[in-house]
Amino acid sequence: MKFLDGKAIVITGAGSGLGAAYARHCAALGARLVVNDVDAAAAERMATEIAAAGGTAVASPGSVASWDYAGELIEACVKAYGRIDGLLNNAGILRHGRITEMSESDLRAMLDVNTIGTAACASHAIRCMLEQDGHGSIVNVASGSQAGDIALGAYGASKAAVASLTFSWALELRDTKVRVNALSPLAHTAMAQTNMKFLAQQSASREVVYTTLPAADVNAPAAAFLLSDRSIGINGQIVRIAGEELSFVTHPMIAEPVLKGRWDDDAIGAAFRNTLGRRQQKLGLAYARTMVS
Ligand SMILES: NC(=O)c1ccc[n+]([C@@H]2O[C@H](COP(=O)([O-])OP(=O)(O)OC[C@H]3O[C@@H](n4cnc5c(N)ncnc54)[C@H](O)[C@@H]3O)[C@@H](O)[C@H]2O)c1
Repeated sequence: MKFLDGKAIVITGAGSGLGAAYARHCAALGARLVVNDVDAAAAERMATEIAAAGGTAVASPGSVASWDYAGELIEACVKAYGRIDGLLNNAGILRHGRITEMSESDLRAMLDVNTIGTAACASHAIRCMLEQDGHGSIVNVASGSQAGDIALGAYGASKAAVASLTFSWALELRDTKVRVNALSPLAHTAMAQTNMKFLAQQSASREVVYTTLPAADVNAPAAAFLLSDRSIGINGQIVRIAGEELSFVTHPMIAEPVLKGRWDDDAIGAAFRNTLGRRQQKLGLAYARTMVS
């Protein structure tokens, strides 16, 4: 018995890159898949490849940025397999640009695909999952860039929004059989390739600087785990896969107060001078900058 046997799972953006690696791995573990991609030929190719390898998959081409199409995508899974057990919200796009260079259309495009696309697919899937028997798993895709990254502010923000949605949905659904987690992956893909020229600038804020990135399939076992019943009890977490290191991403929290009760302008100034100035939070994935007085 394979641990995804019979699970009906939708993977978005599965025509290439990380999504394709997730799809191959989940299909080999017995999952019945709906393979989505905005690139119709890529989605069809992946479904055909999985079927040729003895797996079960249907293709559903379309853009997750369309709320209506997202509904059709989830419906395609219910139509093909009678239910939906898992959704891997992998489809995403990346456009570079510092705040002084960023265009409105790039920012809106990333929010449309990365953030609204994730919410659209999850909203439709969760409604179905709550009406059926058994456990459901939503796996979103965040990014290390949500911690702050040079030339990736807008991309990181679209992924930070996904992380925040993950926390809220996990809280809303904590008393149900539907759990919501996220992956923060790392892999050499077409998307990652576009970022290579920025690596030198980004290195000061990153925990590891890679000259070669890990292969996409390194990320697939964690995705399969989160989609499977093996992860029942794990909820609201972001799983970081950085090559040979597996960890959780810490959640944004309110730090210990340094003032309580009422204060005036001078007390606020003193709090920053005496305490908060020295306690500034790390920026990016590794870089700690202290206040220059
Ligand atoms: N590669 C990394 O190191 C890395 C790191 C952190 C997060 N991520 C995230 O992982 C996911 C996959 O990244 P990747 O590196 O494989 O990217 P990729 O660009 O190589 O592949 C993305 C796939 O998504 C599809 N896609 C794009 N827009 C879509 C849409 N609107 N609807 C449906 N499909 C769409 C593309 O056609 C492509 O097949 C993305 O969400 C990305 O932000 C990747």
